Amino acid sequence: MERTFLAIKPDGVQRGLVGTIIQRFEQKGYTLVGLKLMRVSRELAEQHYSEHKDKPFFAGLVNFITSGPVVAMVWEGRGVIANARKLIGATNPLNAEPGTLRGDFAVDVGRNVIHGSDSPENAEREINLWFQTQELVPWEPAF
Ligand code: CMP
Repeated sequence: MERTFLAIKPDGVQRGLVGTIIQRFEQKGYTLVGLKLMRVSRELAEQHYSEHKDKPFFAGLVNFITSGPVVAMVWEGRGVIANARKLIGATNPLNAEPGTLRGDFAVDVGRNVIHGSDSPENAEREINLWFQTQELVPWEPAF
């Protein structure tokens, strides 16, 4: 079954959005198979965002993701990679549609509440980077 990696960023945790965000994915019908609250090391942040290492905002991105607790998650279900991105909304919250998480809860591209893998390749890479196999708990929804 398809899996994706999602992380509620420090702004989402500090603003008390963890429950709301998890509820959106549960209500859509996706299955939570990995969940942990953690502080992100600079090493993990730099690996996670390695594709942005030459961008002018890279240092700020790493500083922000390491600035406070993050909720790291793995979600499973049909089409979850692309559909989670739809539920999250455009990277710049000013372009995100109302009804999406970023459209409803953010205005700043650097404080956009949640990260979601953007491709099957990145989903696999990010799940392996953030989680050990034994931390994932596969289960079958009853409906
Ligand atoms: P995320 O989905 O975590 O992936 C890369 C992040 O870089 C993105 O969300 C934004 O938070 C951040 N980002 C992208 N563009 C900019 C920008 N122009 N200025 C600051 N941060 C940015």
